[in-house]
Amino acid sequence: MADPIEDREHVAEVLRLVEREAETYLATVDGALVRPPGTPVIDGELPRQGVGSLRAVAELIELANEGATRSTGPRFFHFVMGGVTPAALGADWLTSSLNQVAYNWVSSPLAARIEQLTLAWMKDLFGIPEGWSAVMTTAATTANLVGLASARRWWGLRHDVDIDTRGFSGLPDVPIYSSSYLHASAVKALGMCGLGRATPRIIQWDALEGELQMLEGEPAIVIATAGDVNTGYFDPIRDIASLTRQYGSWLHVDGAFGLYAALAPATRHLVDGLAGADSVAVDGHKWLNAPYDTGFAFVRDPEIHAATFAASAAYLGTETLDRPVFGNLAPEMSRRARALPVWATLRAYGREGYRAMVERHLALAQRIAHQVDEAPDLERLADVPLNVVLFRFRPAGVEDSELDDLNRRLGEMVLEDGRIYFGTTVHEGKVAFRPAIVNWRTTEKDVDMIVSVVRELGSRLLATAPGF
Ligand SMILES: Cc1ncc(COP(=O)(O)O)c(C=O)c1O
Repeated sequence: MADPIEDREHVAEVLRLVEREAETYLATVDGALVRPPGTPVIDGELPRQGVGSLRAVAELIELANEGATRSTGPRFFHFVMGGVTPAALGADWLTSSLNQVAYNWVSSPLAARIEQLTLAWMKDLFGIPEGWSAVMTTAATTANLVGLASARRWWGLRHDVDIDTRGFSGLPDVPIYSSSYLHASAVKALGMCGLGRATPRIIQWDALEGELQMLEGEPAIVIATAGDVNTGYFDPIRDIASLTRQYGSWLHVDGAFGLYAALAPATRHLVDGLAGADSVAVDGHKWLNAPYDTGFAFVRDPEIHAATFAASAAYLGTETLDRPVFGNLAPEMSRRARALPVWATLRAYGREGYRAMVERHLALAQRIAHQVDEAPDLERLADVPLNVVLFRFRPAGVEDSELDDLNRRLGEMVLEDGRIYFGTTVHEGKVAFRPAIVNWRTTEKDVDMIVSVVRELGSRLLATAPGF
């Protein structure tokens, strides 16, 4: 096939092929092993003559069946990954078919208005004040970038310097404070902003007031985490916000998945005080179960936000207050219309549907915690305020000094076994497991396999590996 135009008649056939295969894939994903059946050989030179759309997509389906982790399934507990709700999935297919550019109202009134409304709904969900500026991003990492780049601009203006125009030249170091929960993506965002990966001073929050006092009026940037990736712990947002407001500093809250605590009456208090922050980052592809990649950034001061990401060129046109140019509020100017699946999933399930899902996940996490506590060879390493359970294998007769190695090897066995999937981490110097419950498909039957599989594989490891 020489030219895509010759392929036009195959559009419907391609879509039908994908629909059929996706349907089979998703119908079997609940019972499938989470690990991929194999590692497909993906190789070859750039073809001189293409094979045509049907064959290309059929080849891709074969590769996907072989090499895709069943991460949309209910037993993928690694990282913090949601599935995709049925409404979001349908809307995501539509998004690709429509291929709208979510830059402004001229490029797509549909994408622009749906993003505007969706952002209003998300503010409502989390209790973020209506007047804040907001934009969709690719993820929490980019939402952290939006928040911290806005903070950088604000800090520069406090020193009478427009950093976005002139850079940092001649300015003192930026005082930045955070806790040990600071996520790697916020560190990465600090690096991308030129604020420096190594600049945050990691403190206990009861020392924050003293630190801010010592600055003698110099403004600081404070980063709080709402939902630590290993434990689900929260920094005390209300207390921190009250200090940052009192001392004229900027508070950025990274609530990638933890912000969804706001949906359940039992956990709502964890995000108490959020409205006192200056910028907030949250993910859509985690607990919202929107497709990859989806995130949201919220900034209290619309002028600071807009000036940080402004861009102009004669052909781009101008914006009005009621019609924001979303491409000028985010790092990317040309952007996928990723609001469409979010609008669809919120429209489909509403606040109550999401409350029910979050509450189910909270209960599932408590169920795992209880099973861990009951098992004589498992040790829980942290409380479970949210949806992550931190624990390790600790059988009798194994020296403390050998536990890290044992758990690392057991973690590898879990991934090779593939019935469940989760990662290892290091918490307070101990190698541990940290399954996170975020997928809408996950049920009691699925989470019950966490403890049973770990204990089964743990006993096998002890029986077969010399030295333990
Ligand atoms: C607290 C926190 N912040 C940021 C991120 C980064 O999210 P993403 O990879 O979607 O950018 C994560 C991911 O787990 C997280 O837990």
